[in-house]
Amino acid sequence: MTPTPTAEAARRRTFAIISHPDAGKTTLTEKFLLYGGALTAEAGAVKARAGRRAATSDWMELERQRGISITSTVLQFPYRDHVVNLLDTPGHRDFSEDTYRVLAAADAAVMVLDAAKGIEPQTLKLFDVCRQRGLPLLTFVNKWDRPGRDPLELLDEIEQQIGLVATPVTWPVGIAGDFRGVIDRRDGLYTRFTRVSRGATEAPEELVEAERAAGEEGEAWDRAREELELLDSVAADLDPKTFLAAESTPTFFGSALTNFGVRKLLDAVVDLVPAPAPRLDADGTPRPLDAPFSGFVFKVQANMDPSHRDRIAFVRVCSGRFERGMVVTHGPTGKPFATKYAHQVFGQERETIDEAYPGDVVGLVNATEVRVGDSLFLDEPVTFPAIPSFAPEHFSVARVRDTGRFKQFRRGIAQLDEEGVVQVLRDPDLGDQEPVLAAVGPMQFDVALHRLEHEFGAPAELSPTSFRLARRTNRSSADSLRGMRGVRILERADGTLLALFESQYWVERLEQEHPELLLERLVAEGSVG
Ligand code: G4P
Repeated sequence: MTPTPTAEAARRRTFAIISHPDAGKTTLTEKFLLYGGALTAEAGAVKARAGRRAATSDWMELERQRGISITSTVLQFPYRDHVVNLLDTPGHRDFSEDTYRVLAAADAAVMVLDAAKGIEPQTLKLFDVCRQRGLPLLTFVNKWDRPGRDPLELLDEIEQQIGLVATPVTWPVGIAGDFRGVIDRRDGLYTRFTRVSRGATEAPEELVEAERAAGEEGEAWDRAREELELLDSVAADLDPKTFLAAESTPTFFGSALTNFGVRKLLDAVVDLVPAPAPRLDADGTPRPLDAPFSGFVFKVQANMDPSHRDRIAFVRVCSGRFERGMVVTHGPTGKPFATKYAHQVFGQERETIDEAYPGDVVGLVNATEVRVGDSLFLDEPVTFPAIPSFAPEHFSVARVRDTGRFKQFRRGIAQLDEEGVVQVLRDPDLGDQEPVLAAVGPMQFDVALHRLEHEFGAPAELSPTSFRLARRTNRSSADSLRGMRGVRILERADGTLLALFESQYWVERLEQEHPELLLERLVAEGSVG
């Protein structure tokens, strides 16, 4: 008997890992795969494989040169009797639109902190996005095998900086760098840490009785007990209700490199992360899980494979059973879309996917007309809410180097805009001649230039502008703003008018002097960058 979508959804856990670069996201991802049985070879294979793939593709060349990951990937593996979908976010230093969109497809996130560094700028920014989406957040304090900060101080920092109550589920015995093990606050059991060589195998987990541990761990034990009493007195206990409401964050201590604490974290993902729930449509009506297939596109990527020059749309399934080969309707155009080529995509590696359920991600090849935010459905029409774009903070004028390549330049710019690599803003008087590219982080510009040259055959150059923020406006306000100093009015492909400013101060001044003008904030503007 075919399982129902509701039953399959109940087994799914779909989440993303967020972190500042170097906090250990890649390592933790590898370890999750190891514990999920998806990595049979030694841990580290993910990185090694990624390196090999990158070498074979000009599209990934930039990633290889920089040792970064620009594309995001989706990993699926079984764990206990569940199916875990790990949406990997791009790992580069700049925040990009991509990350934002990936989080739109996740039901929760795991925030990885470096024990020595605590909350770093990128973590804060990513956290802002989670907050906007109301995403429940688990926290993993990583690298406890190395010297780091005081655990109570770290909890305090989480509360102060991101406003979530940190509820430690495990508590470290021994300071960072002299890691002895963790006490599980739910049952009081002590798990001793045994160092394994770079964590090639699962870490041996030795459960030690409290009395024996007290004798063997001595001072470190006493100190942990004192800290635990303090925690008990401030009632910082795991609370699934406030976790789901994104008010508290269950916190774990460990070391991804040596595998310690990874299993407890993965168990928590399965036990605490909510299963995919009926998704609200644009009118706020939930689409039942057992309704016919539906999903929304959260990412579009062209030319991932240079030998195919194709275009893949990543769809998060929201209801029903997806079967490869089914012909679904593309919401915005009403056209049929054949899903003969459905893949599970991991970097450059693809596997044909035959069926999928709510919470799963399907990569649809040949998605020429499909855009980020579009809905796809079978039988019963549905429109899911648009994924808002992030507020850009960098603006550069793009020009083609060789005017004979203008056609290619124009096509490339349009493609990059559709994929959301950069936002393309035009001056209605100049059209496509000198579009302004807008991005959240400057790395997006490098990617755009690289792709314009290598994929579209249109080498281009960028001149930075002094604009730093944009506000949404309307026609009548735009007419008044055009004559003002320090403002530029540009238009997005969807017709939205944006007013660009050099500083927050200038916007505020204009707002005071001209309260009649529409100067609407874009999503997440003003977050720490
Ligand atoms: P990222 O994806 O968040 O950028 O971080 P990544 O996992 O690549 O980890 C960054 C560095 O931190 C790596 O070292 C990794 O080995 C190390 N690391 C990750 N988790 C732990 C941990 O629990 N303990 C310790 N001590 N180190 C950890 P690297 O030298 O940059 O790379 P590699 O040569 O080890 O691969």
